[in-house]
Amino acid sequence: MSDPIDRLLDAAESGKSIIKNREILQDTYIPNIIQHRILEQEQITHSLLPILKHSRPSNLLVYGSTGSGKTLVVKKILNKIQERVEKSKFPIKLVYSNSKEEATLYGFLVSFGRQLGLTDKELPSTGLAISEVFKRILTRIDESKINAIFVIDEIDSLAELVTKTGNDILYQLTRANERLKQGSLALVGISNNLRFKENLDPRVISSLGEEEVVFGNYDLEQLTKILEERIREAFIPNSVEESALNLCAGIAKKQGGDARRLIELIRVAGDIAERQQSPKVIVEHIREALQKIDVDKEETVLEAYGLHEKLVMVAIMKAGGSSSTGEIYSFYKGLCKTLGQDELTQRRITQYLNEIEMSGMISGRLIHQGIHGNTKKYKLEIKPETIKKSFKDDLTLQNII
Ligand SMILES: Nc1ncnc2c1ncn2[C@@H]1O[C@H](COP(=O)(O)OP(=O)(O)OP(=O)(O)O)[C@@H](O)[C@H]1O
Ligand SMILES: [Mg+2]
Repeated sequence: MSDPIDRLLDAAESGKSIIKNREILQDTYIPNIIQHRILEQEQITHSLLPILKHSRPSNLLVYGSTGSGKTLVVKKILNKIQERVEKSKFPIKLVYSNSKEEATLYGFLVSFGRQLGLTDKELPSTGLAISEVFKRILTRIDESKINAIFVIDEIDSLAELVTKTGNDILYQLTRANERLKQGSLALVGISNNLRFKENLDPRVISSLGEEEVVFGNYDLEQLTKILEERIREAFIPNSVEESALNLCAGIAKKQGGDARRLIELIRVAGDIAERQQSPKVIVEHIREALQKIDVDKEETVLEAYGLHEKLVMVAIMKAGGSSSTGEIYSFYKGLCKTLGQDELTQRRITQYLNEIEMSGMISGRLIHQGIHGNTKKYKLEIKPETIKKSFKDDLTLQNII
């Protein structure tokens, strides 16, 4: 039998790879042509046009479910405006930030300040009051007469931070222009949570949503076209079977028309096909990819759980089959005892069970017990091996799994 290392190296050298450019399958890749989003591209570009005439665009809110192309479209428009701005001498600044990547309001504002050119000296990374950070940012805009567009992607995360800290940065951002004598600030908020507005201060909504653009969900035909184009760019010709392509689009359609899922699937399936040295991506590779992605996601979620959530998972696993909240709770208490940990109340554990159920890793069913009231029974929806694998590096849990 040939040496497995040589076999793979030979294949790579002889150019037998079916993926011609892997980068094109990454989430951050911006394709030359964005299909199907003509109207949305027009609406957003139109709304930002005033910046080229050196006046303030209206604030804008962009909505749509996950993977509907919002970030892609907005980034592409920013890039195009940026190309033109570089030619003009006018101080225009386009700033993009993803609020999910910032753990604190302070960090969020500092990242904004940095992109406006504020140095560590002018705006230290820690230590100031939020109001002072904000003031320094506004002073920079004012003194340098900057016309800024500030894109806040995943703005729901920022709204959550605002709710948690009670520091109403969003309100202040929307009112910034009232404090500026020169220069201006326009906001573009992007959200995939259609109900996000419900949690906001109505004054913020009316100001932030001066204009709104909504991205609808992709249908099957649109997903198929997007995938065909991506495959054409990234794979060598005729290396993805049509049935595999169709299955991929069908899965993405079922998952809410999510184009991110679509591209992730073909990327992982392409890798699997290459590893098996198959000349084509076939239906089985898509199925395998789907499983692999699900397992990877579950493991990431499980690894991030706190100790007691992990113990609840182990308790459900040990209880086996379909078990009532009470049964799971007594297994959980037993585990706490073994580990010498203080146990949480049954109420708290019931809350955890509800939360874990939302992730889809367990499912619950309400059982009516006549005069004894109702009880909920839970069962695992993932393989026990996934739990064991995810927790194997947690030293505390080593003796119980
Ligand atoms: N019309 C399209 N043409 C080509 N590729 C697309 C299109 N729409 C989305 N994509 C691709 O799908 C993936 C997800 O798109 P994007 O990141 O813009 O989604 P989103 O709406 O911002 O989702 P989320 O709300 O989860 O952030 C990206 O890789 C993007 O390149
Ligand atoms: Mg996005």
